[in-house]
Amino acid sequence: MQSILITGGAGFIGSHVVRLFVTKYPDYKIVNLDKLTYAGNLQNLSDIENQPNYKFVKGDILDKELILNLFKENNFNGVIHLAAESHVDRSITNPLEFAETNILGTMILLNTAKEFWKNDFSNKRFYHISTDEVYGSLGKDGIFTESTPYSPHSPYSASKASSDHFVRAYHDTYGLPIVISNCSNNYGANQFPEKLIPLAINNIKNSRTIPIYGKGENVRDWLFVQDHAAAIDTIFHNGKNGETYNIGGNNEWTNIDLIRLLCKIMDKKLEREAGTSEKLITFVKDRAGHDLRYAIDSSKLQNELNWKPSLQFEEGLEKTVDWYLTNEKWLNNVVSGDYKNYYQKQYS
Ligand code: NAD
Ligand code: TYD
Repeated sequence: MQSILITGGAGFIGSHVVRLFVTKYPDYKIVNLDKLTYAGNLQNLSDIENQPNYKFVKGDILDKELILNLFKENNFNGVIHLAAESHVDRSITNPLEFAETNILGTMILLNTAKEFWKNDFSNKRFYHISTDEVYGSLGKDGIFTESTPYSPHSPYSASKASSDHFVRAYHDTYGLPIVISNCSNNYGANQFPEKLIPLAINNIKNSRTIPIYGKGENVRDWLFVQDHAAAIDTIFHNGKNGETYNIGGNNEWTNIDLIRLLCKIMDKKLEREAGTSEKLITFVKDRAGHDLRYAIDSSKLQNELNWKPSLQFEEGLEKTVDWYLTNEKWLNNVVSGDYKNYYQKQYS
């Protein structure tokens, strides 16, 4: 019997992880703890909210008492920790919030797990979900491996790097059974439209300009979110104690090429004349400290744990576009209210 705390399960990646665990493992008890910030959305989980093995708790990972009570009530033997502030641009305007949630919040979870489990670490697992951005920026060549030294540049990546260090410190100092994965950029259904792909889909749909930072030459590796969820399932169950696994799509795109491909797909889906969406591309002021290139070597995960991405980028992107066009209500809900203020400040 597994009793698992998933944090940040109402967010983009977390909701796919919660759905996978709740449906694939009916014997597991899954508790989803989420503060429901602007990025958390219970609509993401409406299809599974009544499953008997699932419970949602609205709360903050910074709330020590709540976390300890949840451990006591549910006798967790696993934690899958995704809750975080996750957007680089927001970290540039509000770095302290990133330090609080991403560093202190992770420490509170680690410390509670250590205290609650201290007499018996057998069959326990603390799984910390991290990002490839901790490794910094690559030039035209090179690839991040699990032993690439950390070199974060944004307050977001610095806060994630710091949390990774604390997770390892709890393993090395106290013997806490941990595992960490560092993944590249995710895309797919339910991503908040502050990130490049859903922002561009929403803008194209509404015939608004598509803001591209700098010259659009920055390179990211893109992975379909359900492939990330499948990797998390694999690593949670089969990863080795104390190890780190890189997760990536082997799928590098410059931002401008990616957006051009997306424009083609959108023209087709919206039955607009070819070339219509591309006219919306607008180059805007570059992001401060903008990392040039990320590329990830996920051969350790592929060779040792037998995971691989399930689909090609064009197919995944088309599925993603279809989801946003079909789920208009979801999109309209999340872009109302505060989103307008955010957009105005970020892109004015
Ligand atoms: P997201 O912003 O969509 O979701 C984050 C979730 O955490 C939200 O539901 C939010 O309400 C919740 N949350 C935030 N602060 C909280 C707090 N103090 N207490 C409880 N819940 C809180 O993020 P995402 O894109 O789904 O990313 C999830 C995790 O995966 C993050 O740790 C992120 O660093 C990591 N990651 C993301 C990507 C990516 O491309 N999105 C890639 C690699 C790693
Ligand atoms: P983003 O989706 O914010 O993810 P990350 O910063 O974590 O990689 O951005 C992906 C890339 O797209 C990144 O190089 C920044 C760029 N970008 C733009 O050019 N315009 C935008 O409006 C946004 C949000 C991102």
